[in-house]
Amino acid sequence: MLPIQPERFLADLHRLRAFGASCVGKGVVRPAYSEADIAARAWLAERIREAGLDVHVDPIGSVFGLAEGRSLLLGSHTDSQPEGGWLDGALGVIAGLEIARAAAAAGGPPVSVVSFQDEEGRFGVTTGSAVWSGGIGLAEADALKDRDGVTFGAARAGMQGRAADFVDPARFSGFLEMHIEQGPVLDRADEAIGVVGAIVGIRDMKITFEGEQNHAGTTPMQGRRDAFQALARFNGMLAERFANVVTPRTVWTIGHVALHPNASSIVPGRVTFSMQWRDGDADRLSRMEAIIRETAGEVAASGGFDLSFGPLLGLEPVEMDARLRGALEEAAEAQVPGRWRVMPSGALHDATNVSRLMPVAMLFVPSIGGISHAFGEDTDEADLVTGLRVLARAVQALG
Ligand code: GLV
Ligand code: MN
Ligand code: MN
Ligand code: MN
Repeated sequence: MLPIQPERFLADLHRLRAFGASCVGKGVVRPAYSEADIAARAWLAERIREAGLDVHVDPIGSVFGLAEGRSLLLGSHTDSQPEGGWLDGALGVIAGLEIARAAAAAGGPPVSVVSFQDEEGRFGVTTGSAVWSGGIGLAEADALKDRDGVTFGAARAGMQGRAADFVDPARFSGFLEMHIEQGPVLDRADEAIGVVGAIVGIRDMKITFEGEQNHAGTTPMQGRRDAFQALARFNGMLAERFANVVTPRTVWTIGHVALHPNASSIVPGRVTFSMQWRDGDADRLSRMEAIIRETAGEVAASGGFDLSFGPLLGLEPVEMDARLRGALEEAAEAQVPGRWRVMPSGALHDATNVSRLMPVAMLFVPSIGGISHAFGEDTDEADLVTGLRVLARAVQALG
């Protein structure tokens, strides 16, 4: 068995949380390229160097710890949502670090580790691993804007790595990503491990309705071109039109709304909002896209609004690799017999992108109460350590 040290692993997880720690609960505020994110990446690079691995920062700021020769790659991301939990991404990176350093101390097998940049989509959708895997070109990524209008190109310019090149994916025989479930299934069932069967696909785009800004006291209700009302109408119509297309697992979210000028005495003239939808079936995602475009078009035409769509971003649903997944299943059964299951991932992960380059598989540990993308996200320490042990067993078996 690899000489992993659970206390060292937990201590490093807590140390990483200190970068951008929220005042509330155990959360973090560590969006891609924020000061806290850059400082956390520098700290991680130090830990990687101490472990005897070669530190390589790619042009996007994804941090790799490279073992010599061909190796497995373990990891996830260390950036967070604008209000995020302490484990989303961090767990997979620190578990990877612990196993890589245990393997290095034991003289093998060679294990590399990575923390991808902008998994949480400040700019795009899992931008760091999307660019590395060729899912999106660097020039295209550079033009992506965050919600304040900052471009990806400008944000990454401040943190170009020492090494100006991307890591050759041929160095790696496969990618294993450990993550919190971010949903309630394992916690409710009192199970310790989820082995992921497939990761759902996603589509994400910005939509703008442009109406007419005017005085909220003097403009008659009849004839207003109120951008908020356009969004409200669109949202209601969409739910009705999706009803025949979606399954209980399909989800859609309007998570960010910028209403202009956003003042109580002004009829809002413009709204730009995010429209995101996810499902395990790529055809369904396309049908939903058609409904979204058509519904927005009808709302705009009937209310006299100008309508525009931002670029459509997305990732396809992917199946996990049978051999890597099998190694995780065997490790789970050996570690926690009967207390694990195969399950889909409704959250996105870097593994989706990396699957373009090499075989990938994922394992989950429970999220208490199913809470994630919120400061209240947490997992029992015993479950974190169980996940580490299962991953270490699988790495050992894969050699
Ligand atoms: C990324 O964390 C996502 O699933 O939204
Ligand atoms: Mn994550
Ligand atoms: Mn996340
Ligand atoms: Mn994610």
